[in-house]
Amino acid sequence: MELMTAIQNRRSIRRFKGDPIPREALVEILEAARLAPSGKNLQPWRFVVVQGEARKEMAACLDAGLEGCRETGMPTGSAENTFRIMKEAPVTVFVFSRRDIFHPEARSVSDHVLSLVDAQSVGGAIEHMLLKATELGLGSLWIADTFFAYKELCAWLEEDSLLLAAVTLGYADEAPDARPRRALERLVEWRG
Ligand SMILES: Cc1cc2nc3c(=O)[nH]c(=O)nc-3n(C[C@H](O)[C@H](O)[C@H](O)COP(=O)(O)O)c2cc1C
Repeated sequence: MELMTAIQNRRSIRRFKGDPIPREALVEILEAARLAPSGKNLQPWRFVVVQGEARKEMAACLDAGLEGCRETGMPTGSAENTFRIMKEAPVTVFVFSRRDIFHPEARSVSDHVLSLVDAQSVGGAIEHMLLKATELGLGSLWIADTFFAYKELCAWLEEDSLLLAAVTLGYADEAPDARPRRALERLVEWRG
């Protein structure tokens, strides 16, 4: 598939069929992430692939996270729907960045800058995954609502780095139209 075709065809998918994804396809998607550029080539990412029976443990974390939000009166917003999607999809890849930007202690400016750089790097790796999934005929969803079950997911996955996002993957059970984008003229200023 031409790169621009994959870019144009990719959609956020929120309805998945239950069919499992072949291991080779998952490896190709993770390989695409591995090859992404990163600030100082630090490759700050780590991925945890959750599928099969492990999804039940994930679902328990998601439910506990939402429950915790409700108890503190925190609005759960889009997270309820996002977690429904994560439970439905056959695969969720959790994406960690090695530096915790939520570190409570005061940090140096360079630490702050590096964590922003890491976040950009991880974003690039995630986009590589989405485009590879599109090329392979798989639906995907980039998820940041993992923050609503942050403590629960990190404890379960035994990761002490920053859980930045998740990507759900599976065969799409919907074919949404392209979502609107602003026109290029509104985004770009040309100088010279
Ligand atoms: C950083 C980021 C976080 C996102 N988090 C969520 C999420 O938690 N739940 C969700 O349903 N969609 C999430 N999305 C998907 C966006 O809503 C979607 O990309 C946007 O509406 C445009 O639609 P499209 O991807 O089909 O073009 C996220 C996208 C990005 C880039």
